[in-house]
Amino acid sequence: MFGGQDSQKWTTFVRSASLTLTPTPRLSFRTQICFTATTDSSTMEDTQLTSTQHNQSLVFAVNGERFELSNVDPSTTLLHFLRSHTRFKSVKLGCGEGGCGACNVLLSKYDSKLKQVEDYTVSSCLTLLCSVNACAITTTEGLGNIKDGFHSIHQRFAGFHASQCGFCTPGMCVSLFSALVNSEKTHRHEPALGFSKLTASEAEKSISGNLCRCTGYRPIADVCKSFAADVDMEDLGLNSFWKKGAKLDKLPFYDSKQITTYPEFLKNEYKTTGVLSHQNNSWYSPLSIEELMSLVEYSSTDNGVMVKLVAGNTGIGYYKETEQYDKYIDLRFIPELSTIKKDGSHIEVGATVSISKLILALKEEKNDDGLCLETNMVFKRIASHLEKIGTESIRNVASIGGNLVMAQRKNFPSDIATVLLAVKAKVSILTGVKREILTLEEFLENPALDSRSVLLSVFIPWLKPTKNGYSEKSNTEIIFQTYRASPRPLGNALAYLNAAFLAEISVCDSGVGINSIRLAFGSFGVKHAISASTVENFLVGKTLSVDLIYEAVKLIRVSVSPESGTTHPAYRSSLAVSFLFDFLWPLVKADGTCNSPGIRSRMTFDHTETTTLLSSAKQVIESSHEHYPVGEPIVKSSAAIQASGEAVFVDDIPSPLNCLHGAFIYSTKPLARVKGVKLKSEKDVNSVITFQDIPKGGDNIGAKTLFGPEPLFADELTQCAGQLIAFTVADTQKNADVAADTAMVDYDIEDLDPPILTVEQAVKKSSFFEVPSIVSPSQVGDFSKGMAESDHQIHSAEIQLPSQYYFYMETQTALAVPDEDNCIVVYSSIQVPEYAQSVIARCLNIPEHNVRVITRRVGGGFGGKALKAMPVATACALAAYRLGRPVRTYMNRKTDMIMAGGRHPMKINYTIGFKSNGKITALHLDILINAGMSTDVSPMLPWNVMAALKKYNFGALSFDFKVCKTNHSSKSAMRAPGEVQGSFIAEAVIEHVASHLSLDPGFVREVNFHSFNSLKLFYGVGAGEPLEYTLPTLWDKLMKSSNFDNRVEKVNKFNKNNIWRKKGVSRIPILHEVLLRSTPGKVSILRDGSVVVEVGGIELGQGLWTKVKQMTAYCLKAVQCDGTDGLLEKVRVIQADTLSMVQGGFTSGSTTSEASCEAVRLCCNVLVERLVSLKEKLKEQMDSVTWELLITQANIHAVNLSASSFFVPEFTSMRYINYGAAVSEVEVNLLTGETKILQTDIIYDCGQSLNPAVDLGQIEGAFVQGIGFFMLEEYLTNSDGLVIADGTWTYKIPTIDTIPKQLNVQILNSGYHKNRVLSSKASGEPPLLLAASVHCATRSAIKEARNQLCSWKGLDGSDSMFQLDVPATMPVVKTLCGLDNVETYLRSLLSSS
Ligand SMILES: Cc1cc2nc3c(=O)[nH]c(=O)nc-3n(C[C@H](O)[C@H](O)[C@H](O)COP(=O)(O)OP(=O)(O)OC[C@H]3O[C@@H](n4cnc5c(N)ncnc54)[C@H](O)[C@@H]3O)c2cc1C
Ligand code: FES
Ligand code: FES
Repeated sequence: MFGGQDSQKWTTFVRSASLTLTPTPRLSFRTQICFTATTDSSTMEDTQLTSTQHNQSLVFAVNGERFELSNVDPSTTLLHFLRSHTRFKSVKLGCGEGGCGACNVLLSKYDSKLKQVEDYTVSSCLTLLCSVNACAITTTEGLGNIKDGFHSIHQRFAGFHASQCGFCTPGMCVSLFSALVNSEKTHRHEPALGFSKLTASEAEKSISGNLCRCTGYRPIADVCKSFAADVDMEDLGLNSFWKKGAKLDKLPFYDSKQITTYPEFLKNEYKTTGVLSHQNNSWYSPLSIEELMSLVEYSSTDNGVMVKLVAGNTGIGYYKETEQYDKYIDLRFIPELSTIKKDGSHIEVGATVSISKLILALKEEKNDDGLCLETNMVFKRIASHLEKIGTESIRNVASIGGNLVMAQRKNFPSDIATVLLAVKAKVSILTGVKREILTLEEFLENPALDSRSVLLSVFIPWLKPTKNGYSEKSNTEIIFQTYRASPRPLGNALAYLNAAFLAEISVCDSGVGINSIRLAFGSFGVKHAISASTVENFLVGKTLSVDLIYEAVKLIRVSVSPESGTTHPAYRSSLAVSFLFDFLWPLVKADGTCNSPGIRSRMTFDHTETTTLLSSAKQVIESSHEHYPVGEPIVKSSAAIQASGEAVFVDDIPSPLNCLHGAFIYSTKPLARVKGVKLKSEKDVNSVITFQDIPKGGDNIGAKTLFGPEPLFADELTQCAGQLIAFTVADTQKNADVAADTAMVDYDIEDLDPPILTVEQAVKKSSFFEVPSIVSPSQVGDFSKGMAESDHQIHSAEIQLPSQYYFYMETQTALAVPDEDNCIVVYSSIQVPEYAQSVIARCLNIPEHNVRVITRRVGGGFGGKALKAMPVATACALAAYRLGRPVRTYMNRKTDMIMAGGRHPMKINYTIGFKSNGKITALHLDILINAGMSTDVSPMLPWNVMAALKKYNFGALSFDFKVCKTNHSSKSAMRAPGEVQGSFIAEAVIEHVASHLSLDPGFVREVNFHSFNSLKLFYGVGAGEPLEYTLPTLWDKLMKSSNFDNRVEKVNKFNKNNIWRKKGVSRIPILHEVLLRSTPGKVSILRDGSVVVEVGGIELGQGLWTKVKQMTAYCLKAVQCDGTDGLLEKVRVIQADTLSMVQGGFTSGSTTSEASCEAVRLCCNVLVERLVSLKEKLKEQMDSVTWELLITQANIHAVNLSASSFFVPEFTSMRYINYGAAVSEVEVNLLTGETKILQTDIIYDCGQSLNPAVDLGQIEGAFVQGIGFFMLEEYLTNSDGLVIADGTWTYKIPTIDTIPKQLNVQILNSGYHKNRVLSSKASGEPPLLLAASVHCATRSAIKEARNQLCSWKGLDGSDSMFQLDVPATMPVVKTLCGLDNVETYLRSLLSSS
């Protein structure tokens, strides 16, 4: 069986279209047939295939279907092929650089000699199509589907509520599937039926290279663990399979035998591709070094021929190539380059051997191979280091040689170069006929390898005794350790610094002597990895002591010195100190004596080391059955088809005939005249659209809000770096992207004022946006009076808060199709279709009824697909209108990140007055908000900041906001816009007061809690009724459920007993005010009794459709006829269509789900009223009136079965407050600055949740997004304001290894709420604010570190008056813990001895 389909269906599949293939002799190699083709990759559908030409064509299978292509542009990626030329659209483009896992597919190869299939994941965005010859590709569609039945992976993703927007889900499914397939090949015990051979830890790790921006990973981890042989079923989280009593038979059955990944038909036709030709470029697969060298030689002498040697092709993930090569030479079929050989002195690793294969080989080395214990240990440590390179799908194809060549030629910050440098590896290079062996050091230092040279192999030496030998009895030992400090512990992040140290030591009575030592460092902003010879020379021959280590670390700080321009240079140098200290310190006792015996046992790789689970969790929900099925944790609508890849996102809609593709040219200058735009090459470009293409009478408008319009393109003057200037339109997305990327914009800045790039400059120039009084927050009390009442005051303290990027997994996308009579249909991934409709109409100067904007689902929005999606839709519409052809765009991640704007950065200055007991009597804030170049929703920010900041009773509260207009990209709403900053500022104030008074911050929080009266004073009607103020209850409950006091005690104890790790724990409350807005709904009952629903709200992954379905079923049930229990299954919510449902408004602010539910409730009430009287009449005639019968009769009696509504919330109850609280416990590593989140406990009041599973997903997902803001994500710009954190390499959202190791969430059902929709409360944004608990806990741990530092310096007292920046990244944390804390510690020991 293949994915549940009969294997007989694997009949030969031949694409049917025509193309003339003309054999053209080219080179005198083994296979000499080239085809001159008449198509390119964009028209590959036209490729004709013939059964006689197998040898020269590319044959492979996708989900069991056979593909044979003889005309392939060698630069075509597998992702492009699958998405553009097959029906398998589940492979998603999330980044195009190997960093997100959305495009993962399973690649299977057959080894005809061993008769074995090898299966592994690859990033299809980096895999070249030509390299998959004879391979079978499995995407998530290949596992199952809605018609033939879903795979248990799909079913469990749905049932564990592990898919929200669904854009990451296909890639996740494939990663898990690959782990399952490979676990079956192990020789482990047969697991119980229905389980795999995976351990829970391995299962969870299988998705460590996949990003998800919605779920927070916990439910995905549960899906993975549910397949594991050693899982404790009771530990699995909330799911739809059981309410109580976890049992395997309730889970969708997993049958490991069902899986076949390599179709039989492909086994018989394995051949190398030989030569594949396409127009002017070809793909070669030489089988020997000789063939290879003549190819290289031939090409390089052929003037101007661009040649690319290809192994795994992952290098393009980092060095985005726009060049077209004439020849691609696949190195992987040359035996010498692809094997691992061992002899008595080394392992020789062929250059194309993948990192994964090398890891296996290094791990497999056993003593009986003749290896000494030390060599074994070294190899295993190297393997363990290599496991942190990239992600599994990268390591599976990324070659050792490719990595070293990138390091050598382009200064790539390689880990491999560093670890191999430490063990004195050598490389073999072939240039022409000259073969030479170089030390890795020589290789790295040589001039960049020229295009004629090939790296053949790498020699990793076995350790040889240099002195006394390595016998167990000898006193000589080898120690080896590798290090890397990076934002993600499991990899998928380049290191700030990596290192590997190898030493031979002698242990004797007088101590530990260093016989030899090798200290390799890399990835710290130098050309390549280095060995720190000065320090090595200094240490050799000496006996270790505190003094010696002190001198050595001082020297290493100088040796490991990044080149100018490197970020965090001092931090990177301090890491070198930490690593060396960590390496040497276990060898000496504090008194300077030898720490032996037992060095070897401690330093030797621990074979029994088991990786602990990344996550564990508990969920407590209190659902209400009062409004069944509302209140049930039912599975998210579309979750299963999202998992199976059948859910259609905008870019999955097949291109209409003649469709063109667009890409944006943006400004790189903050303020300049645009004199012109020149394309590097006009070839392949259809048109360049600018503001001049706007039709007569149309406006240059790209977006609008209540506060005004925004331009689509810069006209003469560009106002920020990142502003859209033009839209290149070409026949393929790639051509449009390349044209935009290589376009030259001619700027002129003569006579222009300098741009405003800081809020301070904006203040100087009075460059502000007006805040209308209707949205201005009100001051509370009398600030001067409050200050006069205070015992203590803090004046002019400052906080800076940065921006954050949305990182929705689906980038901005739209498809515009011209229609008859001057109309246009635009498919857009947008949160506000209605506004896009209006903007497009104004831009094109056509009536709004000519514009139909359709949105079915959005692959993550978080506010970024509101305003910022409008110009994308409008540009497509304008180009389509202008050119009379469909135009679509799928924005690349870089452009998306550059234009997105993101969260508003702020500068806050505050003055506080407070009593000695911590009670704050007055707070004044001056807040400068950087709004960027245009208004967007920025005038709302002061209100939002204040709404969340007022969570404490600050006595008197005064403030001054300035919404600064600057020459930055326009900032927009991002999940909890302003609220997250406001809530954080409140905590910063509390922490500041606590530090000032040396009080516990938790105590100061409680002293400043609101009473209901003060709440009313601060929030007015939004405060609601006294019983609705549930925060004090939540606060107390959380203290008990999180065992808070006990944990504080444990943390204190831990901190006393540990020098280099400190823990912190913090509990914070949140208040988050939301506003209900009016919204439409429409419910129609069709003849068969099925129900179709339209709402204003858009499904962004937040579960809006699911709640709407539940509400519809609940309300229609009121008809009280037979069979209404199954109504839920009959309801379908359909895509938003601006001509069908008007006044759809914004989907934002957390309340759209409940407002849409209310709109639907109003419709259903009307329908019920219409149906009830008919039902009563029918009841008089028959015993049972079923739903179907009732509807049939309603049609006969001409009852109107469609009802529309427009829900308008009452003014007095449209605002309300949400409450929650969280405790987080963290552990900070004082040597590296790493913060581990050990545990988070959340309690959140959802009222009577409409769907607790959906709300849980919102709470966990928002919380983890908040962790990103507070701890990880640096949305950096250059000095012109141009975003430079523009991809997955530089922008690090949380991954499964950076979420809390234990995440416990309780959803409190706070009962009846008169003014709320069925007593429910919002959950979309408020929980994001709770992540400040992680930041506060980190601050608390740092406080401990700083106090310790003080004592080392011999200073009395504590050092708690410091600001911890947001995000609290590793460099930030380490800096506060002391970049020189190691030296300080050693000095303190030296001075006390
Ligand atoms: C998402 C991601 C994360 C990563 N993270 C890390 C990391 O944390 N640490 C780290 O060290 N690396 C990391 N890498 C780099 C990765 O290890 C390299 O991209 C990979 O090893 C290159 O091998 P390849 O086979 O894909 O090379 P290719 O991409 O095929 O080739 C790379 C370059 O080397 C040339 N080349 C390849 N083989 C030879 C040869 N034998 N002789 C001469 N020239 C040759 C090619 O022409 C090309 O110019 C990461 C890569 C990605 C995509
Ligand atoms: S799209 Fe390929 S890894 Fe992100
Ligand atoms: S569900 Fe994972 S990115 Fe949306």
